[in-house]
Amino acid sequence: MTAPTTLSQDELKTLVGQAALHYVVPGEIVGVGTGSTVNKFIDALATIKDSIRGAVSSSEASTARLQALGIPVFDANEVERLSVYIDGADEIDGAGYMVKGGGAALTREKIVAALAERFVCIADESKLVPALGAFPLPVEVIPMAAAQIVRRFAAMGGQATLRCKDGQPLVTDNGQHILDVRGLSIAEPLAFESQVNQWPGVVTVGVFAHQKAHVCLLGTAQGVRTLQ
Ligand code: 5RP
Repeated sequence: MTAPTTLSQDELKTLVGQAALHYVVPGEIVGVGTGSTVNKFIDALATIKDSIRGAVSSSEASTARLQALGIPVFDANEVERLSVYIDGADEIDGAGYMVKGGGAALTREKIVAALAERFVCIADESKLVPALGAFPLPVEVIPMAAAQIVRRFAAMGGQATLRCKDGQPLVTDNGQHILDVRGLSIAEPLAFESQVNQWPGVVTVGVFAHQKAHVCLLGTAQGVRTLQ
């Protein structure tokens, strides 16, 4: 009897990265997210680069990878619509609501996703959750507002901490800071996103509910599971 094959998390990411090619429309520009799963998609996209016009990217990191592989990158302002945006998630629930921003690219991710008719989320099965909130919620903030935003989250029962890198506050591609908020329960993602988004100094909250995924390609031990 053959032992069941166990795929590593990295292999599951490769699987969904390749599966996402199915959603790329030949002759068009594709929206590209950020992260280790998206890196697998970018690698797969390079194999069909001659059949697309190029990409709109959600981060400096993805732009560098796309360009290194010979895929033209367009500025978001040059594009009116995209048929598809492909990105990972830190958490996704059964309705397609997500928490994103573990890679600090959440603001540009929302901007590129807003150009797209369809959001395809690619993730390994560890990202599927019954309810959002276990992953620390990333929030991009204007630095001078950080302390008051920390207090607002505390009033909701959340503990917000400034994300640091090499002992210094992490600076996003947009020159701002990231708060990671623990201890929240996000029972109503749409209302929560709307509420936090209107606090002064919040650039973007990492709940993607108004721009939820239309399709999720989930990498599982049994292969790619499509949720829609
Ligand atoms: C970056 C993101 C990523 O999509 C998210 O963090 C998932 O990343 P990974 O594929 O590396 O697990 O939102 O800001």
